[in-house]
Amino acid sequence: MTEIAFQKALQKPKLAPTFYFIGVTTGKSSIMKVFPLWMKELGRPDIVIEGINCKIHDDPQVYCRIVAFIKADPNSLGGLVTTHKIDLYAASHNLFDYFDRYTQITGEISCISKNEGRLEGHAKDPITAGLSMDAIVSKGYFGRTGAEVLIMGAGGSSVATMLHLMDKPDPSDRPRRVVIVNRSLPNLEHMREMVVAHGTDIEVSYVHNQDPVKNDEIMSRLPDYSIVINATGMGKDTPGSPFTHAGLFPRHGIAWEFNYRGELDFMHQALAQGESRQVKVEDGWVYFLHGWTQVIAQVLHIDLTPELFERLDVLASTVRR
Ligand SMILES: NC(=O)c1ccc[n+]([C@@H]2O[C@H](COP(=O)([O-])OP(=O)(O)OC[C@H]3O[C@@H](n4cnc5c(N)ncnc54)[C@H](OP(=O)(O)O)[C@@H]3O)[C@@H](O)[C@H]2O)c1
Repeated sequence: MTEIAFQKALQKPKLAPTFYFIGVTTGKSSIMKVFPLWMKELGRPDIVIEGINCKIHDDPQVYCRIVAFIKADPNSLGGLVTTHKIDLYAASHNLFDYFDRYTQITGEISCISKNEGRLEGHAKDPITAGLSMDAIVSKGYFGRTGAEVLIMGAGGSSVATMLHLMDKPDPSDRPRRVVIVNRSLPNLEHMREMVVAHGTDIEVSYVHNQDPVKNDEIMSRLPDYSIVINATGMGKDTPGSPFTHAGLFPRHGIAWEFNYRGELDFMHQALAQGESRQVKVEDGWVYFLHGWTQVIAQVLHIDLTPELFERLDVLASTVRR
């Protein structure tokens, strides 16, 4: 259970079966405490977790070296990718032998695993973001309320959330309109390409912006009951919030912070309006649980039944911070 710079991680073959966590500040994640408890519960206490910290939009060579090492080293079982899902896919897709349907649609990898000698890439976020959203938003919510969705950030988790919304078969589970805001163009374009290729009746607006005052204006135009998602990593990976303290959340709306640790400025801004504007506030803990359990099940080839998820949820709650 260690956190290491990638150069050091890739020097020697692993002595113990190793599961990697490729992220930005991996050592601070609750998974470092949760993972050993879960491995004990799953009867695999021999498996260790190692965090590999990369810079946001790191050198493509970094991603290639990590993936090549995991592929070649017999004791490297696979791992979970956060933040670098799109960049890792772009840099290293040639090293994989198989991609699931969601990786092909989204162009991102959140799960690296092995199966009979093949290196596999899965995009689990459409499943895990979906499971988490379904836990927050009740059936028929959009049809009932006319709510729209504002997604701050157009990275891997936003793409997954968008895909989940587009794939909802019942029209009352799809918002009429989604606004996606991103600070630079490549991820916004990637999102647009994915949405156009997939096809949807949802009206999607793409906004290239990182000015919080303009974000406040965009948020102020949302109808009541709308959902505002912070998928920028601001408040954890980088300081601050995409909104100013003057930004008004939609009345009766839902503010969903994708993270559960860090300063969480966006979440605190929303909490401050909990009563005055009847804003319901959610953090990323349930997303964390679904995200990790789905990837671990894939890497270890276990059947994640609802009963097993429940047991893992209870264990994780004992060390939540
Ligand atoms: N709770 C959980 O288990 C869970 C699960 C998934 C994700 N998350 C968290 O959610 C966050 C996003 O994850 P991700 O995988 O989608 O990351 P990502 O792929 O790095 O995407 C983040 C996106 O936000 C954009 N962005 C950053 N600051 C912005 C700003 N001020 N205004 C507008 N856009 C901005 C980035 O723009 P650029 O294109 O310019 O870089 C990037 O496209 C991360 O902090 C991650 O830890 C948590």
